[in-house]
Amino acid sequence: MTLTIFGSTGDLSLRKLFPALYNLYSLKKDADFKIIAIGRRNLSHHQFIDMIRPKICEYARLSFDEDIFNEFSEHIVYYQMNLTEADDYVKLNGFYHENQIEAQTFYLALSPRFFHSVIEGFKRLDQIERNNVVIEKPFGINTADMIDINHKLMQLFPKDHVYYIDHYLGKEMIQNIKTIRFKNALFKNSWNHEMIDSIQISALEADGILNRGAYYDASGALKDMVQNHLLQILTILTMEESENQHEAQMQILKKLRINQILLGQYSGYRNEKDVDEHSNTETYAELQCFIDNERWKDVPIYIRTGKKLKKREIVVIVKFKALEGSPSNLLEIKIQPTEGVYLQFNIKKPGAKDQIETVQMDFCQSCVEINRINTPEAYERLFEEVFHHQREYFSSFEQILFSSSLIESIQKPKPFIYDHSIPYSLTEWVEIPHNY
Ligand code: BG6
Repeated sequence: MTLTIFGSTGDLSLRKLFPALYNLYSLKKDADFKIIAIGRRNLSHHQFIDMIRPKICEYARLSFDEDIFNEFSEHIVYYQMNLTEADDYVKLNGFYHENQIEAQTFYLALSPRFFHSVIEGFKRLDQIERNNVVIEKPFGINTADMIDINHKLMQLFPKDHVYYIDHYLGKEMIQNIKTIRFKNALFKNSWNHEMIDSIQISALEADGILNRGAYYDASGALKDMVQNHLLQILTILTMEESENQHEAQMQILKKLRINQILLGQYSGYRNEKDVDEHSNTETYAELQCFIDNERWKDVPIYIRTGKKLKKREIVVIVKFKALEGSPSNLLEIKIQPTEGVYLQFNIKKPGAKDQIETVQMDFCQSCVEINRINTPEAYERLFEEVFHHQREYFSSFEQILFSSSLIESIQKPKPFIYDHSIPYSLTEWVEIPHNY
């Protein structure tokens, strides 16, 4: 199995892809791979390995083992080329021949401004249609560009060889949403506007934009997180049960109405490297949405995401309608960093006659060591899926296009400035304290 990574010295490769491949290698899962790491810089094999070592130490979920890392690094070849130079693809083709590399997976961990050159370059490789291609967001510089890129890919590769990544689909607890919803009579039968008062989806980050100023300033939180990851969570939470998940998610997107929006920018953002000093790009976004169908009539769904907040956390909170005289039941699905499920319900206060007490069932899945060991990182799961030609954990182009047009159609208000906490909100945040 061969994987060629275009953009192997970029942030995505260093923070997510190589650590995930190292984990797979350590677990001896799909360990029989060769990685052709393509970059523009003139680096020796050793220089490249020295570049990825500290990142694997920092970001791989499995602890770093020098012997395993040395073995792993023998599976990597650093290959220098200029992505916009047509002749370099002819040389790459020669390299594949010399090394008897035939069918393989290309991973485009690149800024979309390189996509056209790389796709053009693919035409210089033999039997390109036998390969797979994995592509990362943003899938184009705008919606029109996405359509163009998708069209060009479809001319070169069979449709089912093109994998559109949304790494949130590889997260354990996002996959678990379907089981929680559809395999519990308790929730399955009450998952509608008659029983549910509101839903909150929060994806908060403590980090700023790190070294990604140029990319981020052109995207903002709406395109970086809402358009893809958060709309994936929202649609999985609200779709009908179906064999065809992409279609079920599309049905929700088509009925989604964004009713209110609030944008923020963290203080100091404009001084970040490669950010315009007058930038109005949002680093925080909060949306109130409705789904105009029978199941979700008048149920507000809040999405919020932002950088440089007090903590890193992704959670979904489903607030059920309160019955007269008693507090709402709450279901929390904890996605990250802790994985788990929390349920708040009412009982009679022990010893009292009519008083109600609110109690909790709190299941911390990731507090159990064996669960942590058995839970792959999103990118590990996604690599495994591609290597085995499974498509379930990937997005569909139709979904991407629809979400992108939806986000592009938003009239953006001017962002307010915040410092770690958000001064305004479209609704009261439900925050559940835990003891872990
Ligand atoms: C990426 C965004 O898609 O997801 C980043 O571009 C964001 O800005 C990241 O930080 C969050 O991913 P995770 O897996 O750390 O929640």
